[in-house]
Amino acid sequence: MQTVLTGVQPTAKPHLGNYAGAMRPAIRASKQPDTQTWFFIADYHALTSLHDPKVLHQNIYEVAASWLACGLDPAKTVFYRQSDIPEILELNWILSCFTSKGLMNRAHAYKAKVQENQENGKEDLDFGVNMGLFNYPILMSSDILMFSAAKVPVGEDQTQHIEIARDIAQKFNRVYGEILKVPQVVLEKGVKVLPGLDGRKMSKSYGNHIPLFEEPAAMKKLIAKIKTDSLPPEAPKSTEGSILFELYQAFATPEQTEEMRAKFEKGIGWGYVKEDLFQLLDAQLKEPREKYKQLLEDKSIIANCLREGAEKARPQAQMLLKKMRTAIGLEL
Ligand code: TRP
Repeated sequence: MQTVLTGVQPTAKPHLGNYAGAMRPAIRASKQPDTQTWFFIADYHALTSLHDPKVLHQNIYEVAASWLACGLDPAKTVFYRQSDIPEILELNWILSCFTSKGLMNRAHAYKAKVQENQENGKEDLDFGVNMGLFNYPILMSSDILMFSAAKVPVGEDQTQHIEIARDIAQKFNRVYGEILKVPQVVLEKGVKVLPGLDGRKMSKSYGNHIPLFEEPAAMKKLIAKIKTDSLPPEAPKSTEGSILFELYQAFATPEQTEEMRAKFEKGIGWGYVKEDLFQLLDAQLKEPREKYKQLLEDKSIIANCLREGAEKARPQAQMLLKKMRTAIGLEL
């Protein structure tokens, strides 16, 4: 059995890009034999930047509902919420005593913030940096090392964090013996970054995203906004660099993709491509969308599901902590 673990911050509703890039591959991986998947909502990580209680509370439910609606099976996956496992924070302290401050100074998210302050002529280069943001990689290391994860599938922007988790684990093990599992990063191969309405990477911060569970009418309107060129309908079109084609391909079977490619070569009006894309998405998302809405109607189901996940996870966390405390000399 190999342990695969990943987490997601409840900072926003998932969009098509999150689905194709992270959720779909993670759910597929959770169905593989010989793998035990651990999947969690990183709500304490969200607290580094999200301080509106209503929004955070709602986001936790929405993110959990999205994953469940998309087919995550809580009977097969340990599905829990970070803040339901207090052991992670105990581990966080222990690990922080094995993390040099310099390593944190070099972490990308912190460095980006410092650079932004520099560019804005701020006198205090740490302006807007709370200790949660600064220590973010240590908490993430705790998430991973707490459950002895062998593999951590993440996007490219998170690979440095996994390197940091490896570093910290090795440092601890050098002093106390092989107690912590040194994790490996898994970069999602074959998962292309989805373009948004304007062709840049789909991202909520660019405002070019299509929410995963948008109602059909609103989804249609968003698709209508996708940028195209002004070639007439009968002109042959290139699939290369076409936002519509890329989005279509991300959800289509290889056969459907080839059919669309042929239509491009022959010449097709953009309105028809948009209609095909809408139909393709709607067919796949209709059921999950209904399930999502249903789940959000009675939140106790989600709350119970996360609580049960935490109950499955905690004994393992307690066991590892006990082992560590004994090794450190804290257990009396
Ligand atoms: N930092 C990750 C992100 O923003 C979320 C996360 C928190 C995570 N803890 C983790 C991912 C542990 C993988 C493993 O995407």
